[in-house]
Amino acid sequence: MSTMKAVRIHTYGDASVLTYEDAPRPTPAAGELLIRTVATTANPFDYAARAGYMSGFFPYEFPHTLGLDVSGVVEAVGEGVTQFAPGDEVIARANPAQCGAYAEYIALPATEAAPKPGSLSHEQAAALPHVGYTAWAALIGAGGIEAGQTVLIHAAAGGVGSMAVQLAKWRGATVIGTASASNHAFVKELGADEVIDYNAVPFESAAKDVDLVLDTIGGETLERSWGVLKKGGMLVSLLQPPSEETAVAHGVRQAFVMSMPPAGDALRTLADLADSGTIKPVVSSVMPLPDIQQAHAQGEGRHVRGKIVLKVSE
Ligand SMILES: NC(=O)c1ccc[n+]([C@@H]2O[C@H](COP(=O)([O-])OP(=O)(O)OC[C@H]3O[C@@H](n4cnc5c(N)ncnc54)[C@H](OP(=O)(O)O)[C@@H]3O)[C@@H](O)[C@H]2O)c1
Repeated sequence: MSTMKAVRIHTYGDASVLTYEDAPRPTPAAGELLIRTVATTANPFDYAARAGYMSGFFPYEFPHTLGLDVSGVVEAVGEGVTQFAPGDEVIARANPAQCGAYAEYIALPATEAAPKPGSLSHEQAAALPHVGYTAWAALIGAGGIEAGQTVLIHAAAGGVGSMAVQLAKWRGATVIGTASASNHAFVKELGADEVIDYNAVPFESAAKDVDLVLDTIGGETLERSWGVLKKGGMLVSLLQPPSEETAVAHGVRQAFVMSMPPAGDALRTLADLADSGTIKPVVSSVMPLPDIQQAHAQGEGRHVRGKIVLKVSE
């Protein structure tokens, strides 16, 4: 059995359970790609999965290799794969039920992958799949946003938010984002028309009659978001199913989005948008994969701008 380096957990817990160690190298099954990972990222999903908060949805077996984002090179293809060949540079989003991107090699269905945008480095490309696909699924899949609409994006400086601002602008929407004051110039550069300092003013005093709210926070932020929607508008949450009863009472619609597989088709469009310069993945820092504990601790502070990227191989 050949081995590789991977970050695995043997139990749920804080960042100290992340272990950089030898693990079996996967082999691609029929329909799968074996990808040599060049870069991956740290996602809030990984922090939650590591802590055991996702175990009700995804009962992982230990040892479990975390990680969703992949930018790398196809090493081998399984039976029946025709769209990719060894040597192709690709991006992919691992199925959250499996994960596995914190490793030198990952095997995943070819339907989760797309050609890597040629204009991006692997470090930049790794910052695209999970947050890009999620923003796509929320704004375009569930929300169906159209030109001329107004969108409120909570946590506009974050991983999902920074992609959502750019996608909403591409669709011709007017974009209002929430962010700390230190991120206002950054969020405007992404294309936002207005940025609200959520620490200084209640966002509902500054945003009114919007067509869509993208809730990336949940809880009180979700509850306070109902009132900023115009009649017929839509609240899309990534955190929890919004109450249908409350939606009806406000005369609006609601959706809970979980960005489930397959991601490949959306990633192809996102890659084209990246190559045309329409969207730019945001990389806050690049760390070597063995520094994963530090990456999680930093990410869990919840003030990262864009993505923390982890360099896996050259
Ligand atoms: N359902 C799904 O499929 C799905 C997929 C992806 C992510 N998610 C979830 O969506 C959430 C966001 O993910 P992410 O990757 O974007 O997270 P992230 O990158 O870690 O978000 C960090 C950002 O959150 C901002 N922030 C923190 N508290 C805030 C508040 N109260 N109001 C407004 N902004 C605030 C910070 O901005 P400032 O520094 O400017 O304050 C920071 O830029 C996570 O909970 C994640 O688990 C769900």
